Amino acid sequence: MSGGLLSLCEHPSEKQRLLNDMSLLPGAIEEILRWVSPVMHMARYALEDTQIAHQAVKKGERVVMWYPSVNRDETVFPDGDVFNITRSPNDHLAFGIGEHFCLGAGFAKLELRVLYEELFRRFPDIELAGPVQRLRSNFIGGIKHLPVRFTPEN
Ligand code: HEM
Repeated sequence: MSGGLLSLCEHPSEKQRLLNDMSLLPGAIEEILRWVSPVMHMARYALEDTQIAHQAVKKGERVVMWYPSVNRDETVFPDGDVFNITRSPNDHLAFGIGEHFCLGAGFAKLELRVLYEELFRRFPDIELAGPVQRLRSNFIGGIKHLPVRFTPEN
């Protein structure tokens, strides 16, 4: 939620595109998830000898998946360092993949949609008002403080 607001405030032309046409919100949420990749990594133990791309992996070895990296994989996203709320296709892996795919993905997207619909309806001019303080973590790409300013409703 905070990461998405930050992304939009840091890309004012994308924020304006969204404000002009809120039907773009579902796609914008996918791009926010890709861009922010809030869960930064998960690890697995190999159950048997295998190979991932050109890397041999032995049984019992640990493999770490870095979501911010995979979500900028240049073979999937040639312009992965561009924040584009109408990106299509947008096959990001912010919720993981396979058997352990996030159980709350649908709920998380619903929460994001309701939040941004209400926030931008009431405070469309919301913008950054100071330095952002990030969470000290290599697991969650969280934000501790996100100072903003906006015109209050009457
Ligand atoms: C933007 C918000 C969220 C993100 C980015 C996210 C991301 C992830 C990721 C990357 C995984 C691991 C997938 C894997 O190991 O392959 C995961 C697992 C999981 N998530 Fe989420 N998640 C989010 C919100 C939620 C919410 C709101 C809930 C619950 C209401 C939830 C419940 C779970 C559960 C139960 C698992 C474990 C699934 C399993 O191991 O089978 N998540 N999530």
